Amino acid sequence: MLRVWVLAGLCALTGVRAIGQATCVTFKSSASTIPIVARGKASPILIAADDWPGVQLAAADFASDIQKVTGVKPSLTNFTSSAKPSTPIIVGTLGKSSLISQIVNATQLDVSGIQGKWESFLAREVKNPLPGVASAYVIIGADKRGTIFALYDHSEQFGVSPWYWWADVPTTKHPELFVESSGCSHGSPTVKYRGIFLNDEQPALQSWAMEKFTNGTTSSPLGSPFNHLFYSKLFELMLRMKANYLWPAMWGSAFAVDDTQNQFLADMYGVVMGTSHQEPMIRSTPNEFSLYGKGTWDYVGNTQNIKDYWLDGAKRAKPFESVYTLGMRGFGDLPLSEDTNIKLLQQVVADQADILKSVYGTDIEDIPQIWTLYKEVEGYYDAGMQVPDYVTLLWADDNWGNVRRFPTASERNRTGGAGVYYHVDYVGDPRDYKWITSSQISKIYEQMSIAVDRDATRLWILNVGDLKPYERESEFFIAYGWNATRWNPENINTYVSTWAQREFDLAPSTAQKVSDIVGNLTRFNARRKPELLNATTFSLTNYREAENVLASWTNLQQASTTIYNSLSAEMKPAFFQLVHHPVLASATLANVLVNVGLNNLKASQARLSANSHADTAEKFFEQDYDLEVQYHTLLGGKWNHMMDQTHIGYYYWQQPMTNTMPAVNRVQARKAALAGVMRIVPEGTLGAWPGDNPSQCAQGYNCPPPSISLDQYTPFGNRYIDVGAGGPIPFTFTVSSNASWVQLSATTGSISPKSPEQRIFASVKDWSKLSAGANTATLKFTATAAKQQPLTVNVAFTATKPNIPAGFKGFVEGGGAVSIEAAHATRNTAVSGVSWKEIPEYGRTLSGVTPWPRLGNNDASFAAGAGPTLEYDFFNYNTIGGSGNITVTTFVSPSFNAGEKNRPLAFAVQLDSGAPQTSQFMPNAPPGGLPSGWSGLDGFVANSIVSAVTKFTGVSPGAHTLRISAIEPAVVIQKIIVDTGGLQPSYLGPPESVVLR
Ligand SMILES: *[C@@H]1O[C@H](CO)[C@@H](O)[C@H](O)[C@H]1NC(C)=O
Repeated sequence: MLRVWVLAGLCALTGVRAIGQATCVTFKSSASTIPIVARGKASPILIAADDWPGVQLAAADFASDIQKVTGVKPSLTNFTSSAKPSTPIIVGTLGKSSLISQIVNATQLDVSGIQGKWESFLAREVKNPLPGVASAYVIIGADKRGTIFALYDHSEQFGVSPWYWWADVPTTKHPELFVESSGCSHGSPTVKYRGIFLNDEQPALQSWAMEKFTNGTTSSPLGSPFNHLFYSKLFELMLRMKANYLWPAMWGSAFAVDDTQNQFLADMYGVVMGTSHQEPMIRSTPNEFSLYGKGTWDYVGNTQNIKDYWLDGAKRAKPFESVYTLGMRGFGDLPLSEDTNIKLLQQVVADQADILKSVYGTDIEDIPQIWTLYKEVEGYYDAGMQVPDYVTLLWADDNWGNVRRFPTASERNRTGGAGVYYHVDYVGDPRDYKWITSSQISKIYEQMSIAVDRDATRLWILNVGDLKPYERESEFFIAYGWNATRWNPENINTYVSTWAQREFDLAPSTAQKVSDIVGNLTRFNARRKPELLNATTFSLTNYREAENVLASWTNLQQASTTIYNSLSAEMKPAFFQLVHHPVLASATLANVLVNVGLNNLKASQARLSANSHADTAEKFFEQDYDLEVQYHTLLGGKWNHMMDQTHIGYYYWQQPMTNTMPAVNRVQARKAALAGVMRIVPEGTLGAWPGDNPSQCAQGYNCPPPSISLDQYTPFGNRYIDVGAGGPIPFTFTVSSNASWVQLSATTGSISPKSPEQRIFASVKDWSKLSAGANTATLKFTATAAKQQPLTVNVAFTATKPNIPAGFKGFVEGGGAVSIEAAHATRNTAVSGVSWKEIPEYGRTLSGVTPWPRLGNNDASFAAGAGPTLEYDFFNYNTIGGSGNITVTTFVSPSFNAGEKNRPLAFAVQLDSGAPQTSQFMPNAPPGGLPSGWSGLDGFVANSIVSAVTKFTGVSPGAHTLRISAIEPAVVIQKIIVDTGGLQPSYLGPPESVVLR
């Protein structure tokens, strides 16, 4: 901890902007620095005319980045032997640049650390590099991108964010700029190909690009706006964040034909092109096939035409660096046909190999090729489909951030290796999510760290939708693939704070606040995607859930607003795009929905306040559009259309064609409720008193008066009773109790249409003075209105004090349940070097715990009860209906088996010294399919949780220990709930129970 703090402090001191990488830039000279810009003069930059054109481009960016920071533009020239500049910056690619060859030969510079190492680089001071030059700062890449990444790495440290254009991140000015003579270096990245996939690009990205990069008409035969002007901007961004691989936009677009410069420019910049999992042989399909293909997309009936079509694709791509997608899917990313079989797909891939042989010559094993095992194709593979060893197997997530399968031990030595296709945006079942950021960096880290451990590191590709607003999550995915050793459970929660320092030039303490905001923003949007929320997602009656959700959003909004207001005008647009807008927009949606829920409920309770919730919901519904407009009008409309995505009012999985206000109810504001002026609604019920209501009791009429109960260790420490207006008639009310131990938050109040609700809290004055067991009181609510008889409602109030032995330490039952965050174990015991480790900021409520290291017991299972164990001491004074039964629900992440195929995820639950019960919470999936329970609006991915239920019998009230032990690796547990008879429905479960220490 201390070390992390010291490092963060150092960064702040030097002002260097970097996320995790070693830094070699400083803004103050010392004995060990070399000037980039000093005393108004910039060191000249030398490059070789025979270096890669992409390196030339990056060097030009490097020179203008220096100017952005210092105001001084360095000269950038091709080296000639007559030049003798003082302390130049010399840039070049090993084995390509004649200048670098000359320096390495003349100085015997040791380049063995990078030679032949994919994308690696070194930079340092070299003495006497050239005749007449005493010293230079030399930046050498092992290959084209090694040099490019070295340049952009320095630029980032100078203060030029990769997102300076794409998110308008300002560059902090410094008069002088230096590098340490020892320089910076980087070895080969963890993941060889690190890419993004522009997808689902209508309505936002496409409409935006049409406005910004065309004059309304395009030369694309498909009318696509994604021309070389657009892609040049994207390539630069990608290289600045050290991505090297792209699946281009493909909705109504075809990269190679939309603009004939696209392929050429990608290669020149240094971006490796591929096509998505459904578009084989570097051709955008179906779009290109519709334009140029002959016959139908049916490999059996139209073999030769399809082969010719693919041959043209390979010939066209041959001059450029590419990764070939193999295989075949049907149009619209659907299975090929009913009778697609393994033999046919094997034939397709064999024919694709022949095509590549005919185009490239005989040796095709060195051509990077991938086969995405997406949906049904994964089933074919598991059923025995043969894939050539040199082909990279691309494993896919379930489109919801859970990787479906990782390479098994026997699959880890294929020459083609393996990779992962992952999503932060999706169109499909159970619902599109493509509006706003809703993926947690902690979760991306958790899943991709398994990929690293399981050697799925040849290629990672992230479906980024429109790219905005997933800037931060996209960069993390790439950064983790660039250097996976940099991030671990101990420091993963510093990624966003260092990111905030880099992007917004913030002090560490403010950056930490931004990190907290982002952590909560993505947590709230990940526990259920905003597209899947409705007015009753969060309980309106139990655990104060909906109102606490709303309060959390309000806090977040205030925290973000405070920082936003403190920023300079220049900084505001970046913060708005990257933090503030997603916070405001998500909070606004929550306000619409919770207010609709309260409106619907309160109308059914004949409460006048229903109407003000309707007004509030409608106000926020309009505010939602205001925020869209604010985003679109930012910076003179630079991002117009980028927030076009609809997101309120889904009728099925697909996006609605416009936003629709959810239905609100109105009560007649001038009419008095039949049951009288006053409505009494205690906490935890849908009912209302007096009068009839279906939720008061089973038959719905002649119901008994309401009752509430409070245990000593109920987390909130009190219960509330809402006193509301049943129409327009003003009244005053009194509350009294017949027991002296009752504490009331108020004993009088007045209600009128202007102030139609008051909440009264009932609690216990002093639990120590209460006798053990149930204590009962009657709370008497009396309303007095002009020209009316007083109206009285009695509420029975029971306060229960459990008899807990002195000295007990642990969680205590409250409200008939014990709720425990998994990370808050009483004891955590390792076995064979494996122990449960917390992944901070992960999941729906606090964090997740998972067996670590990720391979668990060397990739083997533990027997039930024998694995590393989490123990939770708790005390219960009830069992379900007094039967001796309790139910333990463990909230587990909806992820998949990361080991051998026939080993479903599992852990064991044990009570005291009873037998451990094995929980296999994720059912086996059919080949290529998803397990039952996965789909639907109440499925695992919609809820972002799996509830693993274990039952225990013969349990007596008292102190117990719940033991959770690991069986399989990659299980992530978030929260544990013990139902002792009082558990109420809610989305997130009860708040954590009281702990006696
Ligand atoms: C260096 O030479 C190359 C190749 O002729 C040329 O494309 C490039 O523009 C030159 N760079 C500079 C900075 O003059």
